[in-house]
Amino acid sequence: MRKKTKLIHGGVTGDEQTGAVNVPIYQVSTYEQESVGNHKGYEYSRTGNPTRHALEELIKDLEGGKRGFAFGSGMAAITSVFMLFSAGDHVIMTDDVYGGTYRVVSKVLNKFNIEFTFVDTSSIDEVKKAIKPNTKAIYIESPTNPLLKITDLKKVSELAKEQGLYMIVDNTFSTPYWQTPIDSGADIVLHSATKYLGGHSDVVAGLVVVNSEQLGEDLHFIQNSVGGILGPQDSYLLIRGIKTLGVRMEEIEENTRRVVDFLQEHPVVTNIYYPGLKSHRGHDTHTSQATGFGGMLSFDVGSSEKADQLLSRIQYFTLAESLGAVESLISVPAKMTHASIPRDRREELGITDGLVRISVGLEDAEDLIEDLDQALK
Ligand SMILES: Cc1ncc(COP(=O)(O)O)c(C=O)c1O
Repeated sequence: MRKKTKLIHGGVTGDEQTGAVNVPIYQVSTYEQESVGNHKGYEYSRTGNPTRHALEELIKDLEGGKRGFAFGSGMAAITSVFMLFSAGDHVIMTDDVYGGTYRVVSKVLNKFNIEFTFVDTSSIDEVKKAIKPNTKAIYIESPTNPLLKITDLKKVSELAKEQGLYMIVDNTFSTPYWQTPIDSGADIVLHSATKYLGGHSDVVAGLVVVNSEQLGEDLHFIQNSVGGILGPQDSYLLIRGIKTLGVRMEEIEENTRRVVDFLQEHPVVTNIYYPGLKSHRGHDTHTSQATGFGGMLSFDVGSSEKADQLLSRIQYFTLAESLGAVESLISVPAKMTHASIPRDRREELGITDGLVRISVGLEDAEDLIEDLDQALK
């Protein structure tokens, strides 16, 4: 089955009992048992729910893994994955991870004595140098948020396998439509499904796919124990969103290409971070492991004041956190998504006050370009 077909026919489709073409929303918390322990596969909706199960099967098929899991947010998914580790374990992480991921590991999970080291995972030597006797995993975002840095997933997975470490990839930016990290050797792939997978700014959700039965059992134990599950209504919305992921990603890619072409010619814009540009440091690596570049890009307008001016004039780009929706979004990472990262650290990473991030949506590209043009003037 090819990708666009899998988006529609993957996982569990329709409803056998009625012939409904959509998976029903099983708005239910508990299930009748014929006798104690004798049931039809469902006991209690924290443990399993048919609508959530359909979504979990779908993301498993799309990422090409062994088992899928749906959580109440991307952060719930990430935190649940980290609960696979114990006090004293060490995890190596991409240095410009999403701010919320940085916050949960540096302000919450550190209290449980799980140790984290942030390195530029686009350099395999940096990753090698960070390995310690208690290292258990390498956690990667590629492309990263907001600088769109690229990590060579195959190289890191070879290193992880050699050292007996798990490789975890946050695939939010690329989605399984463009990139399937399990094919490059990842053990765990996760998503803020709030973004492209949902696609319509109407659901907050997280998804995880694991590539072994054992990890599947371990993560199900955590999901059921901790309970950060996704509800049936939101599971349904995600299944619905995923059906159109292919057409949305193709169109967003085309719009982004045109917006980038425009920005490249603009005198106010200094750096443009977009992996689709041949001049981007990670362009060749990204091309070797993904089939598309996505709709996220950042560019520098030089100062916080200029960024503010741009934001105050722009019309079709909604000033909002988040990304991956039908509407184009604009943000200033230093003041918004990455505000929880200390200023010194942000500057070290290149997340300047004049850095503007956009998530290109599905509006007419001509309107988006005209809008950017008038706002940049
Ligand atoms: C790359 C990435 N990972 C994880 C998250 C967290 O997901 P959520 O907001 O659904 O909890 C985000 C949110 O912006 C993100 O951009």
